[in-house]
Amino acid sequence: MPPKNASTIKLSEYAAPAYWVETVDLTFRLQPAATRVLSKIKFNRNLDRTAQGAHDLYLDGRNLTLISASIDGTLLALSDLTQDDEGLRIPHHLLPNDSFLWQAEVEVNPQSNTALEGLYMSNGMYCTQCEAQGFRKITFYPDRPDVMAVFTVRIESLLDDVPEMLSNGNADEYGSDQTATPATHYAVWHDPWPKPAYLFALVAGDLVSHDDTFVTLSGRTVDLRIFVRPGDENKCAYAMDALKRSMKWDEDVYGREYDLDLFMIVAVDDFNMGAMENKGLNVFNSKYVLASPETATDRDFELIEGIIAHEYFHNWTGNRITCRDWFQLCLKEGLTVFRDQQFSGDQRSHAVKRIDDVLQLRARQFREDAGPLAHPVRPEEYIEINNFYTATVYEKGAEVIGMLKLLVGDAAYDVALTEYFNRHDGQACTIEDWIKVFEDTTGRDLSQFALWYAQSGTPRLSVKDSFEDGTYTITFAQSNADSAGQSGKKPQVIPIRLGFLGTDGSEPKPEMLIEMTTRETTVSVAGFSQKPIPSILRGFSAPVIVDRDIDNQERAFLLAHDRDPFNKWEAGRDFAMDLLCDMASDGQAADPLFTSAMRHVALDPSLDPAFRALALTLPSDEALAQAVRDRGTDPDPLAIHAARGDLNLAIATALGEDLPALYHAMTVDGPYTPDAKAAGKRALKSTALSLLTKLDGGATAEVQFSTADNMTEQLSALATLIRTGHATEATAAFYEQWHADKLVMDKWFAIQAAAAPPDAALDTVISLSSHVDFDWKNPNRYRSLIGAFATNHAGFHRDDGRGYSFVADWLIELDRINPQTTARLCGVFETWKRYDENRQALIKTQLQRISDFPNLSKDTSEIVGKILAA
Ligand code: TRP
Ligand code: ZN
Repeated sequence: MPPKNASTIKLSEYAAPAYWVETVDLTFRLQPAATRVLSKIKFNRNLDRTAQGAHDLYLDGRNLTLISASIDGTLLALSDLTQDDEGLRIPHHLLPNDSFLWQAEVEVNPQSNTALEGLYMSNGMYCTQCEAQGFRKITFYPDRPDVMAVFTVRIESLLDDVPEMLSNGNADEYGSDQTATPATHYAVWHDPWPKPAYLFALVAGDLVSHDDTFVTLSGRTVDLRIFVRPGDENKCAYAMDALKRSMKWDEDVYGREYDLDLFMIVAVDDFNMGAMENKGLNVFNSKYVLASPETATDRDFELIEGIIAHEYFHNWTGNRITCRDWFQLCLKEGLTVFRDQQFSGDQRSHAVKRIDDVLQLRARQFREDAGPLAHPVRPEEYIEINNFYTATVYEKGAEVIGMLKLLVGDAAYDVALTEYFNRHDGQACTIEDWIKVFEDTTGRDLSQFALWYAQSGTPRLSVKDSFEDGTYTITFAQSNADSAGQSGKKPQVIPIRLGFLGTDGSEPKPEMLIEMTTRETTVSVAGFSQKPIPSILRGFSAPVIVDRDIDNQERAFLLAHDRDPFNKWEAGRDFAMDLLCDMASDGQAADPLFTSAMRHVALDPSLDPAFRALALTLPSDEALAQAVRDRGTDPDPLAIHAARGDLNLAIATALGEDLPALYHAMTVDGPYTPDAKAAGKRALKSTALSLLTKLDGGATAEVQFSTADNMTEQLSALATLIRTGHATEATAAFYEQWHADKLVMDKWFAIQAAAAPPDAALDTVISLSSHVDFDWKNPNRYRSLIGAFATNHAGFHRDDGRGYSFVADWLIELDRINPQTTARLCGVFETWKRYDENRQALIKTQLQRISDFPNLSKDTSEIVGKILAA
């Protein structure tokens, strides 16, 4: 159901612009409610398109008040221009020359900009967000990524109110007028690298910085500055360290050097997403910059490291080489996610990182691919591009690159990447350009591989094997079911890493890489003395679902013996998934084979504690609901929740006396450090704590809560207590201790919403939604309550539907002020077809209510329309 007045943009209709931009000069006269933006834009006619006749100049522009405009110094009559909601048309008869200077003055209102796109204010600070199409809310401009220009930016403001004024590139000039009352000042910034408008940024306000330097591989010294609100300067050290390690890593691994003399990061409290890679001036959600041991968890430190790296890596994969149009988003995002995953693996543990990434991929991307919002890694059409910053574009986009690297080999991958940077530096590119580089450098035909970019849905791989006269034969069959808007899919290239294990745990034959290109592939390997146990899809070598009848003995064997850490973990996960589905549907008891296997893993000192923590963590209720649906039955959220609890109790019981010992053995001595080794021990300690709580009712958790000297342990104790339903005191104490710290308060809201027992969750969030600290206009706080509640599976999916109506009420409320964040959160309903008829009807009523709301944004109506059409 396409929303009224919204048009569909199609990849097939791409046309180069009629005019290029050479230079842009902007002047900002900052005022909270009436900022003036003066632009001087040098346009050059696109001579490739002159043959097609004279073109009007169409400039994108939204919510702009046009004050004046001129061409080559001649003032235009505003009546000669046609302005609509989306922009401004300058008729071609006013454009006699191939090159001309456009000048305009517009007024914008940053203070009333609650959508957090364009120029807006966050706690008195001016900041911008231009990706994907926010620049058009700042001035009239051809706001598309293939138009790249050199920007010069002058910012003027009141000296006392706005002491710091930043933009992209290098600071060229600064001056003040102390005699004026009040005193004023200005700064001029120049970015020598041509860039699309989505990479423009301006930040101004009362900021302090944490500074450092980095010497690049060619010996240049780069100034590094992290800007934060006064008082937060002591929480920047980790982000700075992560930045320097990222810069070094990109030199060492990709040969990429930073290309300006200054690199800045600013932390902003009101932000729709994680962070943004604006040239030389990255803007971050403050939760991905600020960290101290007392206020940030191990997970926060890890995310800060990964996101700092991600945005920094965009400097080459995104900024120096950018996207021709927004359909090519995965060109920069898939590659940059792949690079940040490599980086984090190198900094920490590849095994643990891979398991974490696959958990995320399955939870978010497989879920998306299985529902009404499924789309290819490179979509072919959209209504609102903000709705396509998805797990499919990012995470599956990264998987596609991982497969490509596996297929061509590490050395060929390096050669291809060097060629990519050489060939396309300074250009706005497509996926075809990317693939062509690999074809040219490896001599391979990648046309079938390219289907990964075009076909949506998660392929399924079914496996059958046999053994005769020393020969092991394995047959794979792939299928890719129809998904939203796509049917009759072709077979894809699936790289399958296959290992063989002997019953003694040895590997009698080397691992193979099978390059599956047809619907069915059979591989035979001779020379085994006994039937090997296959280890299939090692390292999760392709983003597919493996269907295989395998008995639990074999799973327990693989969990104990597989040398591939991913498949070792996967064997335990598979086992748990099957067992929990049985426990939830027919009340089967916990299988002692499983609990003793878990006991073994938990107590095996040769295994990395971080790995043990992952292996001991049962699949989420959400993942189980999908597994139950895949078996053809209606998921019962309460039964699933109870089965998980029962199985955890059985694991705890199997560990018995060894559990407290394990818990204490994982204590990290000395002051807190956020490194992977210490974090891994704390992860296992907190897994042990949640198991132990099943036996001691929370006594150990109470002690940990009140004695913890770091947020990781304080919060894990609080979460455990909240799950028991007896955490009133701890919850209140946490509030008392932390109510002045915004980021910690986000955790306080989120943990209650996500971990409250099913029957208490709704009452908890209703009461929190009227708490004085529930500032719903702040996206982090909103997500901490409303978003976190929707992850409380059994609480959200109450059978009376009140969980759904509560969330729908809040989505409607938020859509009036922030469409982008609302549309994203509507994804909480994307799985609705998985549930029973009663729940489907209840959800449908809410979706319809949202959809019918007058003046719903096009962001939200695109998403809700698609979900309803499922
Ligand atoms: N390009 C950013 C990244 O991947 C994400 C991004 C896209 C974004 N649109 C945004 C961030 C809007 C904030 C707001 O790192
Ligand atoms: Zn990115």
